[in-house]
Amino acid sequence: MYEQISHSLLNEILSELEPNIHERRQELQHFYTRLGANFYAIHNLFELLYGQRDDFKYQMTRLVETLVKKYMNRSRKLKELDLAREKDHNWFLSQQWVGMALYSAGFAGNLHNLAEKTAYFQELGVNLVHIMPILKCPVGKSDGGYAVSNFREIDDRVGSLSDLQLIADEFSKRDILLVLDVVLNHTSEEHEWAQKAMAGDKKYQDYYYIFDNREIPDMFEQSMPEVFPESSPGNFTWNEAMQKWVMTVFHDYQWDLNYSNPAVFIEMLDVILFWINQGADVIRLDAVAFLWKKMGTTCQNEREAHLLLQLMKDCCQVAAPGTLFIAEAIVAPVEIIKYFGEDAIIAKECEIAYNATLMALLWDAVATQNVKLLHQGLKSLPDKLERATWLNYVRCHDDIGLGFDDADIVAAGYEPFAHRRFLIEFYTGNYPSSFASGAPFMRNGKTGDARISGSLASLAGLEKATRTGNEQEIAAAIDKILLLHNLILSFGGIPLLYYGDEIATFNDYSYLNDPEKSGDSRWIHRPKIDWERAELRKKQGTIEYTLFTALKKMISIRKETAAFADFNNRYLVDTDNEHLFGFIRFDHHRPSERILVLSNFSTEPQFLDLQTLAHTGFGSSGQLTDLYSGKRPTIEDDKLILQPFQFYWLNEY
Ligand code: GLC
Repeated sequence: MYEQISHSLLNEILSELEPNIHERRQELQHFYTRLGANFYAIHNLFELLYGQRDDFKYQMTRLVETLVKKYMNRSRKLKELDLAREKDHNWFLSQQWVGMALYSAGFAGNLHNLAEKTAYFQELGVNLVHIMPILKCPVGKSDGGYAVSNFREIDDRVGSLSDLQLIADEFSKRDILLVLDVVLNHTSEEHEWAQKAMAGDKKYQDYYYIFDNREIPDMFEQSMPEVFPESSPGNFTWNEAMQKWVMTVFHDYQWDLNYSNPAVFIEMLDVILFWINQGADVIRLDAVAFLWKKMGTTCQNEREAHLLLQLMKDCCQVAAPGTLFIAEAIVAPVEIIKYFGEDAIIAKECEIAYNATLMALLWDAVATQNVKLLHQGLKSLPDKLERATWLNYVRCHDDIGLGFDDADIVAAGYEPFAHRRFLIEFYTGNYPSSFASGAPFMRNGKTGDARISGSLASLAGLEKATRTGNEQEIAAAIDKILLLHNLILSFGGIPLLYYGDEIATFNDYSYLNDPEKSGDSRWIHRPKIDWERAELRKKQGTIEYTLFTALKKMISIRKETAAFADFNNRYLVDTDNEHLFGFIRFDHHRPSERILVLSNFSTEPQFLDLQTLAHTGFGSSGQLTDLYSGKRPTIEDDKLILQPFQFYWLNEY
């Protein structure tokens, strides 16, 4: 019955579309097939979200119109790519993909120069590049580009649309995927919609959450946590011009969009499709956990936020099915996984999600030299959907939040509050024996909570070791950096390197002298690449050379190792040694081809008793070889030996 309603509604909508769309029926063949296949779901979701509204049918028609127009604007080349990717729908699960996230200004000065740096990505083996926000945003109140004042215009400080075109062409020639951001949850207060709202335009006031007095904001506040408690406490900001309160969950200049208004959904869908049509292969959807606000809740991870993402996905399946979504949801482990959707086919959301759980657990293991919590936390992580994959990373442009589960901390034998406190002290350099030079981010006086900023090299101890010139500590810090990369490259998913980490970039303290940045310690790890120093990657004996060469080698081995593709083909291994983290990856076509990944987080040599692997049968059918060094591992008395911070990628030949 419901299907019939959706069929007849679709027929009505199609007959009402503008005549020029009908004239081009022939070229819309694939569009109509996809619309037919997805419309039932689209209608269903749109109805769940907006069915109670008088203008439901009008908005539904506008949604279909948006899809058809954007499809018609899509280039022939991109449409062909859509068809090819539909045929090979698991294409992104391959081990071939290795990513890097970067700020174009920090990496190359601007977009034009970035286009000229493609050879650098190829040299390292990177073939997915996330260019962080490039859209117009106010000077100062930019949140690193996440406060957008125009969703269709590139900020002239980094370049123009034609520069981006150049990059898209260059990347596509070299099989490099382009990832762009769409900041879905909010706009800058300088965005045209916010400006119109401020001027009293009711239509645009309905694009945001705007209230006459504190009554409703106060009710919301009772259950809403604070994202930036130090620099932007609270979730609402008084606006003088309107004499009203605006919901601003992040900074006071970032106005939350109101997705209970379907016009907002359609506008933002149009924005996503606009960038997809400019050649983005992947769209990073920022802050997706926050999309739906409901009084009495934390206003995060609401069911409707998931429905919105399912709807976005279904719509993009119709207009541009070759593109992928990355969910940026830095939330509790069991919540993150939900952003893949409930089902890979009928309720799909984002194909890729940030593995914030793994990231935080890795930093725990580095500080404690112990893998109890890492093992426990990953054991508790439910299997993700098929046809979905993780983005595995060690550092990114944001802070490190210690978002692991309290129950896991307890199961690992720690007390949650004290343990988190230890980690914060450790990484912000206040713990006596700590090697890390990090900075606290957003200390919350009310909860005692804080997060951590700092570049990978500085957090791993290289900055301090270089300052004191201690060769042994320098070597240990480099080994730690490689140890962490070994895991994001082998765990299963797309590894995402962070620009500068491949040449050991230290903290950049210059942000402290800039009043617009000094209140946000994340700027400490958003560096400007020193290309003269980067040249040292070619000079043997330098830190840059050691790191870059090792990463390059790891990346190329990863690409040749089918077991590293992501088909949920991993199981954790209990190493019976608290310093050794282990898992087995197997080739999902040939399950007997297995790789044992072993990582020693300790400053001391450690061993794995091969008997503990007996139940897996690993190692019983042949001799072990380490893919990374190409050598046999050290085995004494049936015990595998790992030097401090050493890792193995062992196969059984
Ligand atoms: C995302 C971004 C972060 C930004 C926030 C608000 O989490 O990664 O940098 O501050 O969204 O837009």
